[in-house]
Amino acid sequence: MLLEKMLQSQGFGSRKHCQQLIKNAAVTVDGQVCTDMKQSIQPYPEMPFTVYGETYHYREKVYIALNKPQGYECSHQPLHHHSVFDLFPEVLLNRGLQCVGRLDQDTTGLLLLTDDGAFLQALTHPRKHVAKVYHVTTVDRIGEVQIQQLQVGVELRNEKGLYAATDVIRLSDYQLSLTIHQGVYHQVKRMLAAVGNKVQALHRQQIGALSLNSLNEGQWIYLTEEQVNLAKTRASE
Ligand code: URA
Repeated sequence: MLLEKMLQSQGFGSRKHCQQLIKNAAVTVDGQVCTDMKQSIQPYPEMPFTVYGETYHYREKVYIALNKPQGYECSHQPLHHHSVFDLFPEVLLNRGLQCVGRLDQDTTGLLLLTDDGAFLQALTHPRKHVAKVYHVTTVDRIGEVQIQQLQVGVELRNEKGLYAATDVIRLSDYQLSLTIHQGVYHQVKRMLAAVGNKVQALHRQQIGALSLNSLNEGQWIYLTEEQVNLAKTRASE
């Protein structure tokens, strides 16, 4: 692969801009300054390279987990809040980073982002049934009947069929953990409203078999291949 192509693939801008970086002797690969425009390299996973002294690692595709803070919208054009994309460097944005599904601006917790369209499809396609575990704090006391109704399933306006949660665990009078297997708009909030309660705070704990409790709010990491596979682990076929 031509060095300029590699730089482009990693989010360093247009072909012309990448050529200019090479001409300026701004790029090193494996510790060697590269000024040869025709230089071909064989990038390997995590191959280190530097641009103007800053170190990067080659990644064919990126898979990121963010612990989303409150007050951030999962949109490039946020209406009333910050954008989650404000939390990432330009090289990642240039690669076409997208959110894997959406969390509401006031929801916190695990949000995946990627530039891999197939991964995005695999996790968000309605028939894939990837499990998502939420920690819910409610406005009103959680009743036993409400828990049963959530498990049996509730109707949501403008949606077909019943929406049920599994693994509904009451953590306290006003807190529960539940798992959903679809991902329609405001699903958890609407399900709680359908059983006569209201969500006060919502936090996503887990996607598939992936949970990242050690991340602080606003912190993000690149996922390993193993973690990517955990996220794809389906609750049901
Ligand atoms: N369900 C909701 O209601 N909001 C979210 O952000 C995620 C799931």
